[in-house]
Amino acid sequence: MPRSGILVIGSANMDLVATTRKFPRPGETVFGGTLGMFPGGKGANQAVCCAKLGGRTYFIGKMGSDIFRDKMAASMGHDGVDLRHLLVDRHAPTGAALIAVDGGGQNQIIVVSGSNMKLTPADIRRRRGIFARASITLLQLEIPLETIVDSARLAKRHSHLVVLNPAPARPLPKSLLRYVDVLTPNETEAEILTGLPVHHAASAEQAAQKLLAAGVGSVIVTMGRRGCLLVTPDRKRFFPALRVKALDTTAAGDAFNGALVYSLSNGSAIDSAIEFANAVAAFSVTRMGAQSSMPTMKEMNRFLARPGSPINRWASHEKNRHA
Ligand code: RIB
Repeated sequence: MPRSGILVIGSANMDLVATTRKFPRPGETVFGGTLGMFPGGKGANQAVCCAKLGGRTYFIGKMGSDIFRDKMAASMGHDGVDLRHLLVDRHAPTGAALIAVDGGGQNQIIVVSGSNMKLTPADIRRRRGIFARASITLLQLEIPLETIVDSARLAKRHSHLVVLNPAPARPLPKSLLRYVDVLTPNETEAEILTGLPVHHAASAEQAAQKLLAAGVGSVIVTMGRRGCLLVTPDRKRFFPALRVKALDTTAAGDAFNGALVYSLSNGSAIDSAIEFANAVAAFSVTRMGAQSSMPTMKEMNRFLARPGSPINRWASHEKNRHA
């Protein structure tokens, strides 16, 4: 069995999404537009992104024994994610997220973790056989920290490339960072991880240097609509984002991480993987929802071939590699 698979260990939430022209202030009531229910959760979103692009993707997570689990498992399975290692908790409900999306496509999210926080290191160890099928492990921070540390350690023991998307933000111990090959914080997360203010490329680089000194292999600081900065021990490079009209920015970071890992699992160099991830993230904000906004490779090729696409030439060069 070739080890080309992608292992995603993380959360799954049912997202309840309300659109509104403007976010309410504390104590304020505003009228909304539409209300929708979308499969989400950072781990599940990233797994779906990898799978829809065509990657062999294994997901380990924990859901409750309820209707949200039934709907999400059906949807993720339909999108091609291997769910043979999905766990079910009989007592805690499936994770849920309350999301408000404003007229500019920005969002505010409250996550109610439920069963996600019941995923234990022992759960992962009992499923350790799956590590032999993958070459990359992708992690986020919506499950218990001890499970993340143990998963990263196990992944390294299987010679995986370990990619950590440190979201939602929290300080992390060096005992985790030393296992991380690629860390992908946004600016807020980079600030919280390092204690340094991050507002522009120069301060993002300083924060990234601090993370490299803590043992991380490479850092990609994502900077929203501006793009992202790659910092490695011997170089740095800024990658501008694609210009699109945002409908819903929810899960843009998940699209970036999923596409990055998908591309790396295919043997792409990191620069080319970041360019592709930037493009997939741009595509995702033009659609509503989290998993529903992830493109297939066919959709990406069409998106990149648009007249005027800034990476049109790159797209045709890469088309064969990802076909
Ligand atoms: O990154 C977006 C995701 O964050 C949403 O799908 C929501 O469930 C939260 O986990």
